[in-house]
Amino acid sequence: MSALLEVTNLNKHFGGLHAVKNVTFSLERGEILGILGPNGAGKTTLYNLLTGFIAPDPGASVVFDGHKLIGLAPHRVAALGISRTFQLCRPFIGLTVLENVVVGGLGSGGHDGPDLDARAQALLRQVGLAGKERVAVEVLSYGDQRRLEIARALAAKPSLLLLDEPFAGLGSGEIADLSALIRQVHAEQGLTVILIEHKLREFMRLVGRVIALDFGEVIAEGTPEEIVQHPAVIEAYIGRDAIATESGDAA
Ligand SMILES: Nc1ncnc2c1ncn2[C@@H]1O[C@H](COP(=O)(O)OP(=O)(O)O)[C@@H](O)[C@H]1O
Ligand SMILES: [Mg+2]
Repeated sequence: MSALLEVTNLNKHFGGLHAVKNVTFSLERGEILGILGPNGAGKTTLYNLLTGFIAPDPGASVVFDGHKLIGLAPHRVAALGISRTFQLCRPFIGLTVLENVVVGGLGSGGHDGPDLDARAQALLRQVGLAGKERVAVEVLSYGDQRRLEIARALAAKPSLLLLDEPFAGLGSGEIADLSALIRQVHAEQGLTVILIEHKLREFMRLVGRVIALDFGEVIAEGTPEEIVQHPAVIEAYIGRDAIATESGDAA
């Protein structure tokens, strides 16, 4: 079976800054792939390129499940089965928790209103937000907002979920809970996941394979064990974010 995602020669310049540099990788169905890299390495830009939020430089190819993604608008990419969460939560203010998830499911096809509602409620139970359906999103705790963000992304019924620093700003208990949730949706729904994270401890337990980026470029690829010992990775973190810290939350 062919790879779920094939990324070839992805580049992005912002003026003189080469933010993503000759990135090539493939992703198999059912994988949890980790993207590791210091702040400014180009991780979020990579997601923005994959999901149609920004256009890559000419010469790139991104093929997802047999579909060429380059040139597609974000909603078209989403409709093909790629959902993402954002580094900073972006709930729809003024809506309830349940309404936020329902909106996330609109356009996923084959659902009428009551159906969407029931599915949204099931997702909220799954992410541990049962009982908070009618609550206004503004009053949710930060940890609950991160859970909502995942429920909202899952409502679109993705086959690929892109998580951008889902543990940022959470305490260790909340990180363990969210980590278990990611594992659960991966196992139960056969979801393929790409995870960008700074919190190394949980990240390394969660992912099967890691691609390390530095200054937009892939500097190493391997198992979590190989990556933490890789000279280029250690070098990339020296004098910047220490690789063992659990504090790197910055955008
Ligand atoms: N829209 C943009 N315009 C100009 N520069 C950008 C833009 N988005 C990101 N950058 C720059 O590209 C580099 C990579 O950013 P980003 O992908 O957000 O890094 P990461 O997510 O790995 O911390 C940074 O130097 C950042 O300032
Ligand atoms: Mg980022």
